Parts: sequence; C-alpha cells; structure tokens
Amino acid sequence: MKTCKICISWFFVSFLFFYSGILFSDELSQSDGAVVTSNALATKVGEKILADGGNAYDAATAISAMLSVVEPFASGLGGGAFWLIYDAESEEYKVLDARETAPFQSHNDMYLDENNNVIENASRIGPLAAGIPGIPAVLSYVNTKYGSKKMNTILAPAYHAAKNGFPVNNRYIRGAKYKKEWLNQYEETASIFLNNGQVPKKGWILKQPDLANTIKKIMVEGHKGFYTGDFAKKMVESVQNNGGIWSEEDLNRYQVIEREPVRSTYNGVSIIAPGLPSSGGLVLSNALNILSGFDLDKFSPTIQKHLIIEALRRAYYERAIKMGDPDFMYESLAFLLTPSFSAKQRESININYATDNKVLELAEPPYQGQGSDTTHFAVIDKFGNRVAVTQSINFWFGSAFVPEGSGILLNNEMDDFSIKPGTENGYGLIGYNANAIEPGKRMLSSMTPTFLESDKGFVILGTPGGSRIISMILLSALDWISGGDAKSMVTIPRFHHQYHPDYVLYEEKAFSQIEINNLEEMGHKLKKSNRQFGNMQVIQWSRKKNEINVASDPRGREKELTDVY
Ligand code: DON
Repeated sequence: MKTCKICISWFFVSFLFFYSGILFSDELSQSDGAVVTSNALATKVGEKILADGGNAYDAATAISAMLSVVEPFASGLGGGAFWLIYDAESEEYKVLDARETAPFQSHNDMYLDENNNVIENASRIGPLAAGIPGIPAVLSYVNTKYGSKKMNTILAPAYHAAKNGFPVNNRYIRGAKYKKEWLNQYEETASIFLNNGQVPKKGWILKQPDLANTIKKIMVEGHKGFYTGDFAKKMVESVQNNGGIWSEEDLNRYQVIEREPVRSTYNGVSIIAPGLPSSGGLVLSNALNILSGFDLDKFSPTIQKHLIIEALRRAYYERAIKMGDPDFMYESLAFLLTPSFSAKQRESININYATDNKVLELAEPPYQGQGSDTTHFAVIDKFGNRVAVTQSINFWFGSAFVPEGSGILLNNEMDDFSIKPGTENGYGLIGYNANAIEPGKRMLSSMTPTFLESDKGFVILGTPGGSRIISMILLSALDWISGGDAKSMVTIPRFHHQYHPDYVLYEEKAFSQIEINNLEEMGHKLKKSNRQFGNMQVIQWSRKKNEINVASDPRGREKELTDVY
C-alpha cells in the first residue's frame, strides 16, 4: 500500500500510555501503529496482528471477533456495527454500515397489544427482539475488500478464546447479575453464560464451543458460512420455535452497505462521523453548527453549559422527528447541516433561560404518519489507515436468546426502532414515522465512531452509551478543540440532554454547586446520574510533537465496579 503524508511520520512516533497494561504489549514496536480497545485480550490480538505486518483492517477484524468472544455481554456476532475508516491508499473516508435489519415479517405494530399498548419488554427479550445481525457480514466484507491476511489467521485468536475459554472479569459478572433472570429464561443461554443457573465468580472459565464452531465456519466459508445453508436454516428454526420471525431469506439477503460519512467543520476542525441510519454524524454536526454561532470562550462556564444543553436539545429534537433509515426516506436530510438551518435553530435560544420543549414542537410538530451493551475500539497502522468501530448487541446480553447450537447471543436492537410514535425506547428516546418498523429497514442508532482533524493533528474516538454517545463525543470534541488531549477527552465529566425526557442527566463532577444553582434558576431540570456513563477509547496524533497518545476511559477499568454502560 502507498504511504500517505501523515504516515511517513509513523517511523518516528513516540507513545504515551495512560493506562499501561490495557494498551500496548512489548511486542508492538512504535512503527507498527496503535490499538485501543476496552479489553486487554482484544488489545493484545490487535497489537499482534499489526506487529506481524497486518494492516489496520486485519487488526480491527481480529479485535471485533475477539471482543465478540470475551465481552459477550456487550457485542458479538449476533449484533451490528458501524465502521468508520480512512483508507490511506485511496485517501477516502467510508462508513461500513453493518447495522441490523428488521426481518421481512416485521411490521410497525408488532410490539403492541390489541389495545395498541406497548407489550412490556417484547422488543427487548427473546428472538422477536432481534434484528438480522451485521457483524459476521462486516468481518468478511472487510477481509475481502481491505484485508491483507487470510481470515483463518485473523479469526484464530477468537476461535481459540471461544474454544479454550477465558476467565470472566468483573464487568462480565456485573452484567450477568443484572440480567440473571433473563439469561435463565432460555436453557441454552443459561447453560453457556451462567454456572448452574447462578452468576459465576470472578475467574470462572467461560468456554463457548458452539461459538468456536461458528467462528470456524466464518473462517472457512466467510459470509456465506453464516448467512446461508444449513447453519442459517438451523438458526431460523430455533428462532421461529421460540416465537421469533426470522426467515432464511432475511439472512440470505443481509448486506453491508458502504456509505459516505457526514462531514462538517467547527472552528477549523473537520468532523467525520457516520450518517443515517446512525444519527451520530447529523446530531453531532448539527449541535456543533448551532454552537458555532456563539463565541463560547467569551461566556461564563454556566452559560457555556447552558448553550451546549440547548444545542443538544435542538439536535436531538431533529433526531426524534426526522431521522431513520435513509433507504426508507424520500428526502435527504442534508438541509439539517446548512448554515441557514442552524441559524434558525439559534433564533429560539435565550441566553438566560432554558427553552420549553413546546417551543420546538409548536414550530414544527412531529409527523405521526402511519405508521456495558456496546463497545468501541480503534486502530491505526503504519500505512496510515485508520479504523474506528462501535459494535453492539444493544443492552447487556442483548435479547438473552441463543439459537440452538450456534453459540450466538442475539441482539435486541429492535428496541431502537420507534415501536409506537412518541413512546420511549430503552434509552428514553422517542421517534416517529421515520424510525417506525418496516421489513428490511435498519433501526436508528446513536453509535458514533468519529474522526476529528485539524492542523493540530487528528483524533479517533468513540464510546458505548446508547443515546448519550453523541453528547459524550460532542463534549470530548469540544475539549480537544479547546486544547485538551486524549487523557482529558476520556476523563472529563459528562452531561447530557436529548430533548426528551426534558432533563439534563449529569455525572457527579460535571457541574459545580454554583453551576447547578445557576442552571436550575435558568429553568433547566437537572438529574444527577447514579452511574458514570461511557467507556470512551481515543487515539490522538499530535502534529507538532509528532506523537501518538492513546487513552482508555477510566470508567471502563475492570477494577472499578461502577456500571459503565
Ligand atoms: O445503536 C444504538 O444507538 C444503541 N443500540 C447502542 C447501545 C449502546 O451503546 C449500549 N451501551 N450503553
């Protein structure tokens, strides 16, 4: 592969390790690149692939598969993903959309009873809650189109970890405790993830022989080993026998979609992030466009935070009423990023008072019409390729359903659709027609693997956290733009507003007592979160120092027992 301008400097880079032990092993020489993930086993796999001469795509494929094995509560082959890539050879940015799709037998009131009421947990537990997975497809897609090594080599570590097992960590135990009742609802699931129906102790060895066989199939047969033939047939049978509606055709037809990312600029910094069906790029860019009309540095910390909250309120409002799978929409939403649109949004912002949501709703009513969860990782290689991936099965242990003999825990991403207009999903988000369930459609996501670029260098960042992903990325982007680094980006305290419900959720240290008093006086409803949120992973390259910094969110460190997701 051709070398790019930036990668010439790879041979001279130096590294700063903020959380040693999680990140680099000795085998990774400085010229190989950099890896950051939420899990030490997965990080090691990525480093090894780079050290053996693989490219960022090879390393990311291996990491994705490894995380699917060692963090089955967060993501896996039964889930979906968004990959954001910068390809050094073509100098192109691309999004690989591996989001789940709604089965062809799905319909927009499938989770409602005869009185049109939402059936509790119907979109969250069991195979009816599962969309058609995209992760197996993206692994073979990337390997075929961008990889330099054989799938056999790349998936071997995940295969061995599934077959031979690995000791479960505190995060696994926390998730299993939280979801024990659900896991016990399905014999197959309980037999894999619990110890005789009980939450295992730390160090218990989790072996997943069926998953190992499934990985082997993908190693040998690629995409078709999962989506066609006997394997697909058996998964469908098991799904249908347990109340699900998948068909073989659903699996046969699944494809990764390569899309253009959303690109915008804020104070001279380029922001590159996925577009629909991820709402990340549009909401992030829209909120930054609104803020670009204010000189934030000139305001007090309280007003700065007030303006950020008001920008988020408006950008998430647009999410709720307009966003969904672009392949099911008649008009492009590109107008959301025009200067005139954000100028109009700014008109309703009062510098001294919180906006009443009704102001937005009256100006543009929603169209009713007819109808730790997740993980993020990033890799750069010596060729200059960059890969950022957020992948998920949605909530802890997804739908808690494993099709017999597959070892694959299915997602519960169907809950990310608007299952009834204006009804909250598991993250409190509401949506309308644009995100209603339709056969073959992809549910709206908040996953936002992001690149920031400026004359200072670049950053690759992302995090799990459901609806809060986008506001976390926004706060960290603002931090970097105003002089922060990888470490401060992952550690800064977080606050969040998503239009509905109408309150500001904040981590303990996000506001001083004075700011709390001031914001409340301005009319903001504040709600302190009893959990920290996010598990951000950052790779940052500084042009001036010609140095790479890598930082992993301290909230995700295993020894901390806070509920990071
Ligand atoms: O796609 C989405 O927006 C969600 N399913 C992501 C889930 C997530 O980040 C879970 N972590 N808290």
